[in-house]
Amino acid sequence: MSILTEVVTAEAIAARVAELGAQITKDYEGKDPVLLGVLNGAVPFLADLSRHLPPNIEIDFLSLTRFGAEGRVGIKVDSATSISGRDVIVVEDIVDTGLTLSYLLGLLETRSPASIATATLIDKTTRRIVEVALDYRGFEVGDEFLLGYGLDWEGRYRNLTSLWAVLDLAAFQEDPDLLSQEVFAGAADRLDP
Ligand code: IMP
Repeated sequence: MSILTEVVTAEAIAARVAELGAQITKDYEGKDPVLLGVLNGAVPFLADLSRHLPPNIEIDFLSLTRFGAEGRVGIKVDSATSISGRDVIVVEDIVDTGLTLSYLLGLLETRSPASIATATLIDKTTRRIVEVALDYRGFEVGDEFLLGYGLDWEGRYRNLTSLWAVLDLAAFQEDPDLLSQEVFAGAADRLDP
């Protein structure tokens, strides 16, 4: 049995992202929101989501440093956009314990935005330690470790177009090239006449 399995296809992601885009477009009618992506994981989701939104939105990014077991975060590279008085939508790849997003929201609140909403592609609800409001979310998943579409293993696999679950983390850690082999084998199969 493979230690990796594709859990959400590229087609399913595209369909869900389009739905979220339609919902956000409706909710922000008459407003000029700023999408604030959390680097690096939110890049594919934010890019695809933004293409389902009207042209008046702005896009910016920030990156975070994490320190301490309790998941405290600081801003490593700040966004250039002033969010004072703006409608902000924080875009994340995944919300797991909720610690990162909850600290980030606390930091952003001090900058007096008109409103802050949250959008995440993946919600690991069962792993939550702190409650955090998610306004838009793509998929609710269990507690398996996921890779692809922004989610990484030591910086790799973010560029996969679909989401994969690691069924045996220990075996995967021993041979992290496995996913590339599976993905490339699948791509080669699809190219076979
Ligand atoms: P938090 O636990 O909600 O603070 O999430 C912190 C971070 O953990 C996320 O932004 C991801 O970078 C990472 N993370 C959590 N679950 C996964 C996963 O299944 N795959 C890859 N990264 C993950």
